[in-house]
Amino acid sequence: MKIAVLLGGISREREISLRSGKRIAQALRNFGHQVDEIDVNFENFDSLVWAKDLRNYDVVFNILHGTFGEDGHVQSILDAIQIPYTGSGVEASVIAFDKYLCNLYVQDITTVPEFLLITKEEFQKDKNIFQNTIQKINIPCVIKPRKEGSSIGTHICFSQDELLENLEKEFEKYDEMIIQKYVKGTEVTVSIIDIDGSPVVLPILELRPKKLFYDYEAKYTDGMTEFVIPAEIGEEMTEIVKESALKIYKKLECKHFARVDGIVSDCKFYFLEVNTLPGMTELSDLPMSAKAYGFDFEELVNTIATEAFK
Ligand code: DAL
Ligand code: MG
Repeated sequence: MKIAVLLGGISREREISLRSGKRIAQALRNFGHQVDEIDVNFENFDSLVWAKDLRNYDVVFNILHGTFGEDGHVQSILDAIQIPYTGSGVEASVIAFDKYLCNLYVQDITTVPEFLLITKEEFQKDKNIFQNTIQKINIPCVIKPRKEGSSIGTHICFSQDELLENLEKEFEKYDEMIIQKYVKGTEVTVSIIDIDGSPVVLPILELRPKKLFYDYEAKYTDGMTEFVIPAEIGEEMTEIVKESALKIYKKLECKHFARVDGIVSDCKFYFLEVNTLPGMTELSDLPMSAKAYGFDFEELVNTIATEAFK
């Protein structure tokens, strides 16, 4: 096949997308495909020049993580030019990338830790009202941007002061933040890929970061996280977690590949988020789960590209 790999992008996850994309392009070449890497960047973003020639390809392998690439925008451009592309369509991408919307959307089929949305305006307008609101949330809590990836802007706050300080800092960059109950437990991630048009749940990966949680540094620095596969959560929990992840994947109508992150605590699966364009770097989770399933990286990316082309 003639494949265009869309990589880079304009989000804060640009570097990760370059790492994922270059690795994918090489693996597809090794498999025998004709591959071009197309770097979407700050210079060519507005002009859409990168989109003009995409019709010359059989399929686009989109691995633009984060804003614009993973949130439905690029998907709607690819729909408009009618080129098959890897990953979920517009609706699933919009919902999954918006952590507030996604929590609301899946809370009837899985357990979502208590959450609330706070805007920069609300935060800055009346700190007293805000103080009253946050009284309702137990400390420790987690704050995260409504729309972001790779744990950028995410903090666990152990005191009200820490919470206020971190919110102050993140509202310099983001307009909306989620404050969520902190669930202490085992961090797990469930990868799902479509094989012959049907979703297959891969072995669950347990993350044991050397830091407080699986943050940006722990995700992308070799040696900062111990990976345990299959997750040591017992047979019964394994089934519960897999079933929950599959229900979420199906409800969102995800396509080709996705990863559901959560916490196992008190014999329950607590949903954290769905990633519709999961990391594909040498340290990323989905390729590890695929390997445990029996798919090397080349077979994995070829399967994703082939599913998209069908
Ligand atoms: N957002 C990053 C790339 C991930 O989910 O792996
Ligand atoms: Mg994410």
